[in-house]
Amino acid sequence: MERSVILVKPDGVQRGLVGEIIHRFERKGLRLAALKMLSLSDAILDEWYAHHKDKAFFPKLKSYMKSYPVVAMLWEGVEAVTTIRKMVGITKAREADAGTIRGDFAMSQQYNLIHASETAEIARKEEALIFDPKEVFSWEKADYDYIYLEEERK
Ligand code: CMP
Repeated sequence: MERSVILVKPDGVQRGLVGEIIHRFERKGLRLAALKMLSLSDAILDEWYAHHKDKAFFPKLKSYMKSYPVVAMLWEGVEAVTTIRKMVGITKAREADAGTIRGDFAMSQQYNLIHASETAEIARKEEALIFDPKEVFSWEKADYDYIYLEEERK
């Protein structure tokens, strides 16, 4: 199975949407493998957003991501990265589809509530940046027989 790193960004924490976001991923059938609150450091943000470092919005993005703590989670499922990105919606939240997290709860392209890993490879890098291996749990989800066909689980 694949894992995706989710951050509830400072605006999501401020707006009391942590529970709503967890609720959506739980109801979908994804498995929560790790969860913690933390303040992001310059070192983590420079790595995290390395692909945005030359963009005009980078300094603002960094100070926003450092302004308050974030809630970091690791969610697991078959093709979880793509599934979660669909549930999150596009960056510019006011144009995100209704029914997505950004589409239902946000208006801004910066204050868009949530980060979700772009690819499985990036997810592995982000997992290593945020979580110590002993913070990641591989508990058995008892309802998998009703979430996937046996041949779908890989
Ligand atoms: P995300 O797509 O998760 O990752 C990059 C983040 O940078 C994005 O969410 C926004 O929070 C922020 N961002 C992207 N584009 C802009 C922009 N044009 N202006 C301000 N912030 C942006």
